[in-house]
Amino acid sequence: MSAYNYIHHYHDVLIVGAGGAGLRAAVAASEGGASVACLSKVPPTRSHTVAAQGGINAALGNREADDWHWHMYDTIRGSDWLGDQDAIAFMCEQAPGAIIELEQMGMPFTRDENGLIYQRAYGGQKTQYGKGGQAYRACAVADRTGHSLLHTLYSQALRHKVEFYIEYVALDLLMDEHNNCLGLVAWHIETGDLHIFHAHTTILATGGYGQVYASTTASTICTGDGNAMCLRAGIALQDMEFIQFHPTGLYGSGILITEGARGEGAILKNAHGERFMERYAPDSKELASRDVISRAMMQEIHGGRGCGKNADHLYLFLDHLPPGLIESKLPAIREITSTFARIDISRDPIPVLPAVHYTMGGIPCNSQSQVLTVDGKGNEHTVPGLVAIGEASCTSVHGANRLGCNGLLELVVFGKAAGQQAANHKQTRHKPLSDATLEPAMTRFDSLRHKNGATRPRQLRKELQQVMQHGASIFRNQALLDNAERQLRLIWNAYQADLKISDKSLIWNNDLMEALETDNLLRQAVVTAVSAKERKESRGAHWRDDYPVRNDKDWLKHSLGFVDDNGHVHMQYRAVRMAGLEPKTQAVLSFPPEERAY
Ligand code: FUM
Repeated sequence: MSAYNYIHHYHDVLIVGAGGAGLRAAVAASEGGASVACLSKVPPTRSHTVAAQGGINAALGNREADDWHWHMYDTIRGSDWLGDQDAIAFMCEQAPGAIIELEQMGMPFTRDENGLIYQRAYGGQKTQYGKGGQAYRACAVADRTGHSLLHTLYSQALRHKVEFYIEYVALDLLMDEHNNCLGLVAWHIETGDLHIFHAHTTILATGGYGQVYASTTASTICTGDGNAMCLRAGIALQDMEFIQFHPTGLYGSGILITEGARGEGAILKNAHGERFMERYAPDSKELASRDVISRAMMQEIHGGRGCGKNADHLYLFLDHLPPGLIESKLPAIREITSTFARIDISRDPIPVLPAVHYTMGGIPCNSQSQVLTVDGKGNEHTVPGLVAIGEASCTSVHGANRLGCNGLLELVVFGKAAGQQAANHKQTRHKPLSDATLEPAMTRFDSLRHKNGATRPRQLRKELQQVMQHGASIFRNQALLDNAERQLRLIWNAYQADLKISDKSLIWNNDLMEALETDNLLRQAVVTAVSAKERKESRGAHWRDDYPVRNDKDWLKHSLGFVDDNGHVHMQYRAVRMAGLEPKTQAVLSFPPEERAY
């Protein structure tokens, strides 16, 4: 595209995203001797990992005996058997070592009375393959674990001389005619320059797409940019119908109120003062898994037992917790609720409502985080040069529902492994980049800049968020999903035909930025809605009122959604990997499907 000048960069490894996964990969790749670029649309310490509160799982056994095999079983059960067991075995086995590495990097974990890393209870986690007592597996820095993790890893990345490109917006992957990924093209919003990054390995660590919904704990930057780049490159996204609602979003704003509060003993009550989780999950109560609690809360509200003048939320009580506990273990929750709800949690209950928290679906990967694609005959291939980690990826360690505190764990375990592998794959020369490789990305960018219709991107973003919030929510059915798909089509058409970009410059052009993000959200929204419409069963976070039973015979499989440039979705499916390997003995480990009750 001759209208633009490009600045070229050559690196062994390009990492897109500077959250926990991207930074962990950057540190590992640098340690492996690679030259590493890390590109981020925001300053790294504002990446969404900063918002993670309650902890990071590892079977350290500091409080009660624990075993990574029990952690593996809980993760598979939590995933409603849709998780890939080879990847889950790897993650759970690596977890204790990963925590010790973070501690040695300087992460300031909270300590227990013996000076060991403090571990709290989290939902859906037990000992003895689900048959023992509550597991205490979440290693915590009070309720600011993500904040500490992010700052620890950023310091390490700076120490390892990772080259940061901050406030660079990734536009598109550069894929050659053989489907090799050669890097990507990005727009630097501070200077307006366009940059071409040439890399032997491109690692997408671009996070989730919670902003597809109106009420979410995910920050405004969580627009799934890497996922959308894959869709535009013809790579399907996997398991997009599985959207996690966190039970305790702060009523009104959706700000996260950590599950760690319930891990420390907080309880949920309805308008009648009843601890309703005793009815829905008699054994685990407030520490059942998130999908179970979110559905229970909505049933309470729909049954007329909601709190407040509109009977549209529930209460989380902490007033019975021992003195000093809030100050030492939940200081951020005290601060958040005081600032945003003007309450004192040592006295007042917190008004809460489930809010979208995590997107289990994403870029399909094998257990080495290599991106997978499927051809028309259903054969799987890796995409050379392209890797995905963290919430952007669907490896899939979370399957149909993620356990709390397995998110941060996934970031560091797969981030480290991906960084090490990328360092091992460095080559002496970069593949040449042809104009034809760059052309589709720049044609899209250029035509977007010059859109001159009447509808602002912000308006379409808000509309699609409302459609998804109502049409593809905690409870779904065919009519709701059909309607959501129809409305998304209208938004898609408005985006194509009537978008208005009033600012034509390239420097700090928020209008253009919003248009790019809205394009990304829209593609993921349609794939989510159609994947949900097609999956005719209930599993994990995907609940269909019209198909309320899990159906392993027909649906124990990953869904793959492709979308074309007209917004039409095409579905394919692939098998779940039902076994992992014992690292020391290479013996096969496999947990076949069971009934899932808490
Ligand atoms: O509730 C929380 O602190 C969230 C943790 C997680 O999603 O892993």
